[in-house]
Amino acid sequence: MDAAHVDDDLVEVLFTEKQIHDRLGELAADIERDYDGKDLLIVGVLRGAVMVMADLARALGRHVEMDWMAVSSYGSGTKSSGVVRILKDLDTDISGRHVLIVDEVIDTGLTLSWLTSNLNSRNPASVEICTLLRKPEAQQMPVQARYVGWDIGEEFVVGYGLDYRENYRNLRDIGTLAPHVYS
Ligand code: IMP
Ligand code: MG
Repeated sequence: MDAAHVDDDLVEVLFTEKQIHDRLGELAADIERDYDGKDLLIVGVLRGAVMVMADLARALGRHVEMDWMAVSSYGSGTKSSGVVRILKDLDTDISGRHVLIVDEVIDTGLTLSWLTSNLNSRNPASVEICTLLRKPEAQQMPVQARYVGWDIGEEFVVGYGLDYRENYRNLRDIGTLAPHVYS
């Protein structure tokens, strides 16, 4: 759906579908350059990273393997619960592999710092992070994202895979959710 379908629920559209695709194209070019001559496994963090994975993978002009993990760090609200659990593990043995974790947003950084050390304990050749969005708090965590689409503010955003109570994931654009929706 388009922003017009949920107009009353959004304070503003932050990034349009076109802007997102263009930015992912730039990140894909960086990734191609950095992993030239190396095999690459991209790992999407379900469910939010589905759209980013689909478009980033297709923007890559090279072979890439895709695998998925599901972790839970949030309840059903807008604040992190602080607890990370693996709901679905990788199907791939990543020892000796170059792994790029793909996520849609880093908020506290809790999920990805936990996930990075979990994957690093499996003896991969490397583990890096690509995230479409990054919030300010993430700067305080020991999690370094090598590829970042945009740094944004602290507001809660939805669309392009990002949900509020499982809705808005299928919104083409990314927008700031109006407080009246969750308060
Ligand atoms: P973190 O562990 O605090 O970095 O949270 C990461 C996860 O929280 C993301 O992968 C999202 O699933 C969720 N999240 C954080 N901020 C937002 C937001 O603004 N909108 C929707 N989901 C969010
Ligand atoms: Mg996520």
